[in-house]
Amino acid sequence: MTSSLAAVSYIAATILFILSLGGLANPETARRGNLFGMIGMAIAVLATVLGPRVTAAGIPWIVGALAVGGFVGLFAAKKVQMTQMPELVALMHSLVGLAACLVGFASYVDTSTVFSTEAEKAIHEVEIYVGIFIGAVTFSGSLIAFGKLSGKIGGKPLLLPGRHLLNLVGLLLVIWFGRQFLHAPDIQAGIVPLLVMTVIALLFGAHLVMAIGGADMPVVVSMLNSYSGWAAAATGFMLGNDLLIVIGALVGSSGAILSYIMCKAMNRNFFSVIAGGFGGGAPAAKGIGTAAPAGEVTPISAVETAETLREAKSVVIVPGYGMAVAQAQHVVYEITKLLRDRGVNVRFGIHPVAGRMPGPMNVLLAEAKVPYDIVLEMDEINDDFPNTDVAMVIGANDIVNPAAQEDPTSPIAGMPVLEVWKAKTSIVMKRSMASGYAGVDNPLFYKDNNRMLFGDAKKMLEEVFAALRG
Ligand code: TAP
Repeated sequence: MTSSLAAVSYIAATILFILSLGGLANPETARRGNLFGMIGMAIAVLATVLGPRVTAAGIPWIVGALAVGGFVGLFAAKKVQMTQMPELVALMHSLVGLAACLVGFASYVDTSTVFSTEAEKAIHEVEIYVGIFIGAVTFSGSLIAFGKLSGKIGGKPLLLPGRHLLNLVGLLLVIWFGRQFLHAPDIQAGIVPLLVMTVIALLFGAHLVMAIGGADMPVVVSMLNSYSGWAAAATGFMLGNDLLIVIGALVGSSGAILSYIMCKAMNRNFFSVIAGGFGGGAPAAKGIGTAAPAGEVTPISAVETAETLREAKSVVIVPGYGMAVAQAQHVVYEITKLLRDRGVNVRFGIHPVAGRMPGPMNVLLAEAKVPYDIVLEMDEINDDFPNTDVAMVIGANDIVNPAAQEDPTSPIAGMPVLEVWKAKTSIVMKRSMASGYAGVDNPLFYKDNNRMLFGDAKKMLEEVFAALRG
């Protein structure tokens, strides 16, 4: 392939990636967005492999790597459950970071590159240094995020004494070693500061994510998404690959925008969160794990739930992580259809951080064929709860916790929540009195107008459906 054909292919791939991002913004166009992304990636890989910079000797290596990578990807995609997606995404982000580090070291020790001026060499070395730094932070941060999301590491924030000072000292050391690196007379002398900086960056990334408490994790997920984009862009600079720079910048900036949206949804300060649990950490440390259940709850059976629903004129369903775990979306759809056929106004209220990654509730409901026009955002539905007969909370907890509004010392204080307790009756479906991801007790369970339907969401809803039909 000639270099001009490769350039045209890169432009086509870039356009397809932009269209893909645009499509993913809406559930109705998301499938098309995915398709654009897949075609764009196929063009990008083909144009790179067949492009002018790959020699014939390199082809078997690349084909081998593609086969191994493709197989691992296919296996992971087939095996992973919807609820494990955030962990998988975090693991993938860590690989982008690792790739940036490896490319950085390889570029540095590669003596085949000839620089025409000293300035050109210095720019290349800055690219390597910054690229490895971003890559190492992304790598260790994503691994810790994987541990937290999969429950292998506790959600409690690790708040070391003087952690901001530690971060600052780390950053100053990175700058100082950067100076040593740039002034190194040869590769042997330069590799030492590069390695030391990599170790500091790895510790920095791990510390950054360890300091963030359970309820703030959505921001970390999107933030690491952004970091992985910048790591890819840095790799693009090191390799002189324009496509990688553009795609990395697209992922980096869209991840940053998503982080900002997440922060707004959770009423958190964007800069406080990226500084690593700054400010938000103190109340979280106090609240997490210390909340004890208080008051009495009123249980309800599946048959009684069906009775309550039968008498209702308007119902709002609030799905959460537990609905995804139980895979209850299909029976939720059956109940919705039955109630709507009987003239009940059924709608869904979706919290922006419901579940463990942005947007899974919309995906699950779309998969179960729930019409888009009855699936509303939190802001669109919240004012309607006082006029709602029944609010049905299915496997959700933190996103319906009134403590966010009522208790200023709560770790989730200030986070906007779905105000289900304002409905005439709220019914919470979950298996036990266990707390949600943020680890805080939920006063909703003890309210007079609240009922608890204990059990697996899918099993209980099937019983409710049977009773409704009968
Ligand atoms: P959670 O607060 O985690 O509550 C989910 C509830 O589902 C749990 O209390 C659990 O109670 C119940 N549950 C689990 N399996 C169930 C099953 N099979 N059947 C019935 N119930 C089941 O979830 P949420 O309300 O969706 O809130 C999301 C939380 O995750 C927030 O704190 C958010 O900050 C955090 N988070 C979100 C993201 C993103 S990007 N969305 C990323 C990381 C973290 P039982 O054990 O008693 O059944």
